[in-house]
Amino acid sequence: MQIVVSLFRGCSTGVTLEAASTDSLLNIAGTLNLNLEMKSASLKNKTAIVTGASRGIGLAIAKALAREGVRLGLLSRSKPAIGGEFVACDLADLDQIPEAVRQLVDRLGTVDFLINNAGVFLEKPVPEIQLADWERSLRVNVTAPFLITREILPQMIARKQGRIVNIASTSSSQGYLHQSAYCASKHALLGFARSLAIEAKPHGVHVYNLCPGGVDTDFIKGTYLGERLKGQPMINPDDIAEMVVFILRQPENIDLPEIIVRRFDPKAK
Ligand SMILES: NC(=O)c1ccc[n+]([C@@H]2O[C@H](COP(=O)([O-])OP(=O)(O)OC[C@H]3O[C@@H](n4cnc5c(N)ncnc54)[C@H](OP(=O)(O)O)[C@@H]3O)[C@@H](O)[C@H]2O)c1
Repeated sequence: MQIVVSLFRGCSTGVTLEAASTDSLLNIAGTLNLNLEMKSASLKNKTAIVTGASRGIGLAIAKALAREGVRLGLLSRSKPAIGGEFVACDLADLDQIPEAVRQLVDRLGTVDFLINNAGVFLEKPVPEIQLADWERSLRVNVTAPFLITREILPQMIARKQGRIVNIASTSSSQGYLHQSAYCASKHALLGFARSLAIEAKPHGVHVYNLCPGGVDTDFIKGTYLGERLKGQPMINPDDIAEMVVFILRQPENIDLPEIIVRRFDPKAK
């Protein structure tokens, strides 16, 4: 955590303080009677709904937000090993979603941030994809984020603030072998979010899309892609989580619509 301190009003230069947390910086500043100019907003006492926080990227995001003092509302089938309001919901069963979200909103009061993270992977050649599996991918990866957003957006609009972060993918903008269903769902998620951003902007609501490449979770475990990437450097879920915190800390006048996060492997051809 870093804060720029202006030594006196009108002073063009300043000093930079560093400390482990916002609170300790504020204590130091209070003791020294300094004027603080925060580089980024505090997330303390904000509220966030995080989907798919039971493991992987979602759990890392939930933990990172909790460290910032954010109050959490969590939505997944299994209970995440982290404190917060939890409502069990199978996002493939679309009828469950509105009531589950309403329960979380009731418990949180208002929702400052929505993190649409939950997702499923499907890797099959097109002739082998069952309609039910295709539809399940689309339900969890794009229809569920739409339904959750539809529940939350009106109150964000009414409050003229709110931030929606979608965990999309590099599969949102390019094709991969045997990933037609997954790529279709992630392309659709990005398309939905791009239009949502235009709709939400006049109301002061931000929409961000984080598009990672291979992240070190169990998401692709047991798949051909998982085998192909074995031993290669993967993205740490905690780094994605820190990016979400970074996004949410941005001032109102900054827009970061899409961030593509690729693995960087100096040895890869
Ligand atoms: N890992 C990667 O390489 C990678 C790369 C780019 C983008 N992403 C995206 O990042 C997001 C998270 O992926 P991850 O790697 O963290 O995967 P993960 O470790 O498999 O976790 C997936 C999360 O989604 C939840 N989920 C899955 N199906 C659900 C359902 N039907 N209803 C409710 N929740 C459900 C799971 O919770 P429950 O099982 O408890 O329900 C779990 O918490 C996904 O949207 C994925 O597309 C991942």
